[in-house]
Amino acid sequence: MANVIVIGAQWGDEGKGKITDLLSRSADVVVRYQGGVNAGHTIVVKGQTFKLHLIPSGILYPDTECIIGSGTVIDPKVLIAELDQLDQLGISTDNLYISETAHVTMPYHRIIDQAAEGQRGDRKIGTTGRGIGPTYADKSERTGIRILDLMDTEGLREQLEWTINYKNAILEKLYNLPPLNPQEVIEEYLGYAERLRQYVVDASLKIYDGIQRRRNILFEGAQGTLLDLDHGTYPFVTSSNPVAGGACVGTGLGPTTIDRVIGVAKAYTTRVGEGPFPTELDGEIGELLCAKGAEFGTTTGRKRRCGWFDGVIGRYAVRINGLDCLAITKLDVLDELEEINVCVAYEIDGERCEHFPTSSRRFSRCRPIYKSFPGWKVSTTNCRSWQDLPKQAQDYLKYLAELMTVPIAIVSLGASRDQTIILEDPIHGPKRALLHADGTPASLLSV
Ligand code: GDP
Ligand code: IMO
Ligand code: MG
Repeated sequence: MANVIVIGAQWGDEGKGKITDLLSRSADVVVRYQGGVNAGHTIVVKGQTFKLHLIPSGILYPDTECIIGSGTVIDPKVLIAELDQLDQLGISTDNLYISETAHVTMPYHRIIDQAAEGQRGDRKIGTTGRGIGPTYADKSERTGIRILDLMDTEGLREQLEWTINYKNAILEKLYNLPPLNPQEVIEEYLGYAERLRQYVVDASLKIYDGIQRRRNILFEGAQGTLLDLDHGTYPFVTSSNPVAGGACVGTGLGPTTIDRVIGVAKAYTTRVGEGPFPTELDGEIGELLCAKGAEFGTTTGRKRRCGWFDGVIGRYAVRINGLDCLAITKLDVLDELEEINVCVAYEIDGERCEHFPTSSRRFSRCRPIYKSFPGWKVSTTNCRSWQDLPKQAQDYLKYLAELMTVPIAIVSLGASRDQTIILEDPIHGPKRALLHADGTPASLLSV
């Protein structure tokens, strides 16, 4: 029995969907614990592509239970569209469960998210425009609508009449936008409530019951460590806690129930939206990574900014999440490159800096210090074992493990399930490599 958290170790889109789907083979339950329809997780199986925003990436396994936990925010319209899409593709959603304490994204959240971004001008965050920030803001302000409120017809009418009138004042007076019709919104959302009612449960109780029955629970993070509200590149972050600690808060489980944390990182770095990005590549190589890696947002279609692998944020992700091991994805995207750089430290105002600076202003002044590696210049997409990989790719991976101070358990070389090399059992294999008592690092790659 092992309860495992899978998190993004960079700025999102690391390939969490692919890795979660892969690991779901040995999971009984897969749980999303934060975020909303800002997430876009892609799974490719036998040439068929699935793009999931809210439904956990374990849904393709008919016997695996999938739970949308209480720390998520749920846009019912998008969730229903996702259910319909899976149904059309012949994927059963009978094993889906939704937490009754998750918050609901309402039309005014989406409108306010987009209007606020418009007003911020140069200070915009580059949000997905899906209403995520305003939904979590209402949760914190204690004026949010929860799934259990949505299920209570009379209570919902009363709550929404008041809330929509209040939000209309903001729409009209602050943003000069037309008001919403409360009755129309209420009827629309009561319709969604009927469609979703069958899935609603006390998710914390359900997951705890699974833990007591020694079932394997997989927690699927959305977004990534550097987008974390508390630990990311604030204010250029999302409004939830994608880090491993968020899995406990976002499901209602205690930390002693977690056995392992796996970090997913690309072999390079991408970022969507605004905010500092020290290893960003503006020129030809950035374009090549974008084209070869098909780096366009799964949710918004926006072009992702691309850059070299950043070992400083990587080590930060190891620390903040307590990572035990890593899954390195998209190694194949580097196949054609002559030379590959890895950022080992930053220079800030003439000084070398080994650690992620918590101030975004300071972070924006960081200049990367690179170590260069020769490229391998052959395709790795058909490699299926460590021995199949070219020597230069092996050296690159060994260095990433050394730099990050954690073993690499999985290497991904394409979007499909089979384009994967398992180096260590990611669930039961060796844990985080700590220093030996004499200060020397423990071995990282047992290959
Ligand atoms: P997530 O949000 O972390 O689940 O990642 P996304 O699905 O938004 O973005 C990752 C993209 O890379 C998707 O289109 C995946 O199908 C694709 N992908 C995942 N792993 C690999 C890989 O190893 N190589 C390549 N070329 N593509 C991959
Ligand atoms: P997955 O789960 C990449 C980014 C947005 C923006 C910031 C805030 O697919 O990895 P928000 O709409 O959340 O208020 O936007 O966060 N962002 C993501 N970037 N992958 C994601 O999800 C993201 N979800 C949000 O681009 O910079
Ligand atoms: Mg994504």
